[in-house]
Amino acid sequence: MPPSRPLPTVHRSVELIPSSDPTSNVRVNQTAAVPPIPRSGTYTLIRILNTSLNPVDYKLASLPQPLPRLLVGASPHTPGLDFVGRVWDTNDSRLKGGDIVWGYVSGSSRDGAAADFLVVKGQGWGGKIPDGWLEMSSRTGRSLAEFGACGVAVYSALQPLLSGDLGFSRTWKAGGSNRASGKGGKVFINGGSGGVGTFAVQLAKHCFGCDAVVASCSGANADLVKSLGADEVIDYRSVNVVDALKQYVAKNGELDLVVDNVGSVDLYWNSHHFLKSGSAGGKFIMVGATISLQTMIDIPKMLLWPTVLGGGKRPVSLFALIAVPPEQHDIVGQWMVEGRLRTVIEDENRFELTDIQKAFRKLQGGRTRGKISIQVNEDGR
Ligand SMILES: NC(=O)c1ccc[n+]([C@@H]2O[C@H](COP(=O)([O-])OP(=O)(O)OC[C@H]3O[C@@H](n4cnc5c(N)ncnc54)[C@H](OP(=O)(O)O)[C@@H]3O)[C@@H](O)[C@H]2O)c1
Repeated sequence: MPPSRPLPTVHRSVELIPSSDPTSNVRVNQTAAVPPIPRSGTYTLIRILNTSLNPVDYKLASLPQPLPRLLVGASPHTPGLDFVGRVWDTNDSRLKGGDIVWGYVSGSSRDGAAADFLVVKGQGWGGKIPDGWLEMSSRTGRSLAEFGACGVAVYSALQPLLSGDLGFSRTWKAGGSNRASGKGGKVFINGGSGGVGTFAVQLAKHCFGCDAVVASCSGANADLVKSLGADEVIDYRSVNVVDALKQYVAKNGELDLVVDNVGSVDLYWNSHHFLKSGSAGGKFIMVGATISLQTMIDIPKMLLWPTVLGGGKRPVSLFALIAVPPEQHDIVGQWMVEGRLRTVIEDENRFELTDIQKAFRKLQGGRTRGKISIQVNEDGR
């Protein structure tokens, strides 16, 4: 079938050259070649409206070669794993030209969404924005940029909570009744104010129906994290988090789940002080990790050292976002429309594509409140 409109051949695309300081090696190529449309299989060519940055964008690029080349397959590559945009051309039976779609690109993709156009293959990347969003957003002033900044972060918050055995019903139907039906439980989110953490707090409270959501962040972000649903906030810059959790459980009882978005090995070694024990015991799920030699020593130790020989006393797993089942895409969209979830985007974290270096610098600082949003194109132009 011929394309419904002329296919672009060149576009603006961010190029990132892996190095020890990726921020100094990122730029916009004004005349990059648009990624080719595959000769076979399902594809969608999307004109990008908004994208976002995630720590993996600089972490991957700062690994020593040949790792970035092996993992991404090309140098330079285009970052930007989350997107919202309009379909330019597609052979996907679910879509037509002009539809607004959102989704995410795999971290190992050479062509990310920090570009005018993106080609996605198959259907696993996402789909249309949910019914009801445009009506709701025109009433509330919420922006499509929220969909352009949530993919990786929201799924990296959702999937650990799902594997945390909180008893949440997985019989989801888009458009149906999806009230949280978990058995509740007490959760600690280490790092509640960043991209993943702001979603984890909202999901735990408003979608999983947890009895108690405790989260850590700096004091300056405590009000934000409480407004998202945390019952208690631990200011990690002024108190010791392990001590604060010991005090919490002494008053309120032990926790069912710890989700660590920071990568705190010390927190794990102490987790028997605050996570439930026994067959229905608590779990520790590590989402965040720093890239260092020490981490490469610590993580295998955490995972492999048997308890009887002095290893960790609670089950631990390392999270990796590999794939997103379509029902997770649908339910997240629905929760966004229902107002149970929102993407936190502060004005200071909104950037134009031409400001990509500033956006990377902000990301690499490691103190972003919510998500970084990058406007690539305005809608309707
Ligand atoms: N495994 C996976 O598949 C996967 C997927 C997504 C993300 N990740 C990883 O998960 C981590 C979080 O990602 P993200 O997108 O949320 O990053 P992010 O948005 O850059 O996180 C920034 C936030 O981290 C908080 N923070 C920094 N140090 C902290 C500490 N010691 N204790 C508590 N909070 C602290 C900061 O809080 P304050 O400003 O309040 O200090 C800031 O709000 C990263 O390591 C990322 O690479 C992994």
